[in-house]
Amino acid sequence: MSSQIDHLLTETRRFAPSAAFAGNAVADRSLYERAAADREGFWADQARELHWHTPFTTVLDWSNPPFAEWFADGELNVAYNCLDRHVEAGNGDRIALRWEGEPGDQRNVTYAELTDEVKRLANVLTDLGVEKGDRVALYLPMIPEAIASMLAVARIGAVHSVVFGGFSADSLRARIDDAGAKVVITADGGWRKGKVSPLKPAVDQALADRNGSGIQETVEHVLVVKRGENDVEWTDDRDIWWHDVVPQASADHEAQAFPAETPLFILYTSGTTGKPKGILHTSGGYLTQAAFTNRVVHDVHPETDVYWCTADIGWITGHSYVTYGPLANGATQLLYEGTPDTPHPGRWWELIQNHGVTVFYTAPTAIRSFMKIGRDVPQSFDLSSLRLLGSVGEPINPEAWVWYREIIGADETPIVDTWWQTETGAIMISALPGVTETKPGSAQVPVPGISIAVVDDSGEPVGNGSGGLLVVTEPWPSMLRGIWGDPDRYRETYWEKFADKGYYFAGDGARLDDDGDVWLLGRVDDVMNVSGHRLSTAEIESALVGHEGVAEAAVVGASDETTGQAVVAFVIIKSRYLKQNPVEGLGDELRRWVGEQIGPIARPRDVYIVGELPKTRSGKIMRRLLRDVAEGREVGDTTTLADTAVMSVISAQVK
Ligand code: WTA
Repeated sequence: MSSQIDHLLTETRRFAPSAAFAGNAVADRSLYERAAADREGFWADQARELHWHTPFTTVLDWSNPPFAEWFADGELNVAYNCLDRHVEAGNGDRIALRWEGEPGDQRNVTYAELTDEVKRLANVLTDLGVEKGDRVALYLPMIPEAIASMLAVARIGAVHSVVFGGFSADSLRARIDDAGAKVVITADGGWRKGKVSPLKPAVDQALADRNGSGIQETVEHVLVVKRGENDVEWTDDRDIWWHDVVPQASADHEAQAFPAETPLFILYTSGTTGKPKGILHTSGGYLTQAAFTNRVVHDVHPETDVYWCTADIGWITGHSYVTYGPLANGATQLLYEGTPDTPHPGRWWELIQNHGVTVFYTAPTAIRSFMKIGRDVPQSFDLSSLRLLGSVGEPINPEAWVWYREIIGADETPIVDTWWQTETGAIMISALPGVTETKPGSAQVPVPGISIAVVDDSGEPVGNGSGGLLVVTEPWPSMLRGIWGDPDRYRETYWEKFADKGYYFAGDGARLDDDGDVWLLGRVDDVMNVSGHRLSTAEIESALVGHEGVAEAAVVGASDETTGQAVVAFVIIKSRYLKQNPVEGLGDELRRWVGEQIGPIARPRDVYIVGELPKTRSGKIMRRLLRDVAEGREVGDTTTLADTAVMSVISAQVK
């Protein structure tokens, strides 16, 4: 790690904003000054960019840390802010979504049309018995109905829990049960990699096959969008076709005002234990920071930009920078259903060319896989509409950053590398385009109004030039409000480590360079980052030991050229199982098994069958040593192992 850090810190290339960009940028330097002079007043100003049915008089209430309240006596409606107010301002004909399906079918949805659809759906959900505070699970492809569903749930004060369509029935069930969802909105299927990938069958399985879990079924209805045209099974009293009820419903629906701290959504993310955490976000503060950062970091000019964030709505990036931020700002955005390489490897560049995309926000893993394919592919498309590029999800190495700027950005566009988390709700660290001189590989500076530090284990700042732990030192508007149903876990996970200082511990290592710019160094816990998706080692280990043949499993994240990290599993097979089953093909069988249990993104790249795992005398698995093996390095210090010979045995078995 340290040689990699030193290599990063020798990066000296700098890119000053062009005068043309700076002259027309949304952000300017005075934002920093205003925020530094009066942080809460600054956020109050940003919040006032929204429409409040009842204006707030208080800003931050931090009297009961770590439970924050922002703008608590104000009332607003999140969907009204993303829809009706743009229509009322005369922008109803502006396109909100330029949607393209993977097969190439297209639909433009204006703000007026989206508002109409959301009102109808709000009436349908109300008719189905969904009330303020009820949870609705969404399991959908990237189609306009997905955005409409999030907004309709928000409009009636209910709480959505979007589950990524690539998650398995088991993962879906766990999330539905934890949230106690009353309704599920899904589709028959969606297009992925040239074929229809079914969704409804997974919902059926999640609701049917409860394995005598003893957990009560909470789902009363499943609302199904027709998209894939694949055959689906039907449960008459439960299942309803979207097209049978939404177009027929009344388009009259007045948005009611809800207190600012009304829960808006739960989004599950991996932590250090096997059970995913339901991160809870609320309304006013979340929308304030999502909209503000989208405006100043993505430099959104709603009248002229075509903005494209490639994230799926199953992730936080899709929540904040597909649905809530851009729509609150009245932006026009591209929404694309499919994968980057279907039907050809230039699919994304073709979309940028055909839709005239101006602002593009994606993940380093995508950039690295395009680098691998070669520059000829993007260079055969006209990308001249692009004026700003963004990166999110994992550290972007300077090589990928520079390639992104040169090949995609014509050696001209600013790049913003944005650090944040499901828990932070919105961007926390990023350059401001037009203001900041950018540095390949560094996320650089906290956005105005955000206070961070890099500290040692006792919470003392490490100063410039040394590595440490990234903390947020002051509460922020879009911060998580808790873990659904588990306040203790919330406190322990994020606030206990630096309880005396009241710092939020992000779980990331970081280092400040001589200019004080932030370089992210990856997770310091057992969370892996594969293609920008968070996975926990414990979650995959528990899936592996759920297989009848596996006695013990240890999972590590090994560095991978394309995906950032890759899942590598070391497993001990039960001898009883080996007596009856061949060892050949077992690795593939276990990869498939994990894919089924959690979802294809969790499938290990490598499965090594070993006789023993390296453990300390107290029985803790030393993942550091397994990572050495997985990355093909010489194995590090083994002196704390209970049995120091075990690593040479494992190394031999892996070879
Ligand atoms: C990592 C995604 C370096 C980090 C928005 C964080 C990053 C985790 C960056 C959150 C970045 C995100 N540079 N690392 N620009 N952005 N990360 O919850 O480890 O899916 O803790 O949120 O991704 O992942 P999550």
